[in-house]
Amino acid sequence: MLSKDTGTKLMRYLILYMSHHGTTQRVAKQLSELLGIENSTVVDLSKSKLPDLNLFHTIIIGGSIHGGRIQSRVRKFCEAHKGKLLNKRIALFLCYMDKAHGHEAFHNAFPKDLIEHAVVHGFFGGEFLFSEMNFLERAIVQKLSGIQTDVSELDTHAIRSFSESILMNDKKHTLEDTAA
Ligand SMILES: Cc1cc2nc3c(=O)[nH]c(=O)nc-3n(C[C@H](O)[C@H](O)[C@H](O)COP(=O)(O)O)c2cc1C
Repeated sequence: MLSKDTGTKLMRYLILYMSHHGTTQRVAKQLSELLGIENSTVVDLSKSKLPDLNLFHTIIIGGSIHGGRIQSRVRKFCEAHKGKLLNKRIALFLCYMDKAHGHEAFHNAFPKDLIEHAVVHGFFGGEFLFSEMNFLERAIVQKLSGIQTDVSELDTHAIRSFSESILMNDKKHTLEDTAA
């Protein structure tokens, strides 16, 4: 399929993310493998130049929660590109450790209209990786959670079913486009 704006060939999936200690980064790479490496481009919003959003079918956006908030650059990206994102298929995901407040964190992390527009929402849990934290972060995590060693509570089942929902949605629309 060709982009309406540029006439160039569209790629299927753009995965945009930010990560403090590597967990969301690993999730983004895992999603790319589940969706097909050849069909996906993974971009760290803190490092890489933003590609042309018009060149992708589906845009997947994710970040992690620190002190109750998603990375501000993720939030700013969503606000700045909202118009374009509302005309694309999008999917949103979050890594976090406070299970009781995951949904609340998600609703604070992403703009309401993008949440409503997204074809799927991912709640993936997270990890505490003490070797990646600085002194202050270690002290905060130990004080608030009582945890002192590395823990991984990533929900691999949720990651897999998130990618399956994207693939199914994509297949459904491809069939509709072909039939039209
Ligand atoms: C200093 C610090 C603060 C955190 N604050 C929260 C929080 O407010 N709520 C929460 O659910 N998880 C919190 N977490 C857990 C992170 O969301 C979790 O470690 C996540 O896997 C980090 O992903 P990342 O390495 O991709 O940034 C915090 C972690 C750290 C180190």
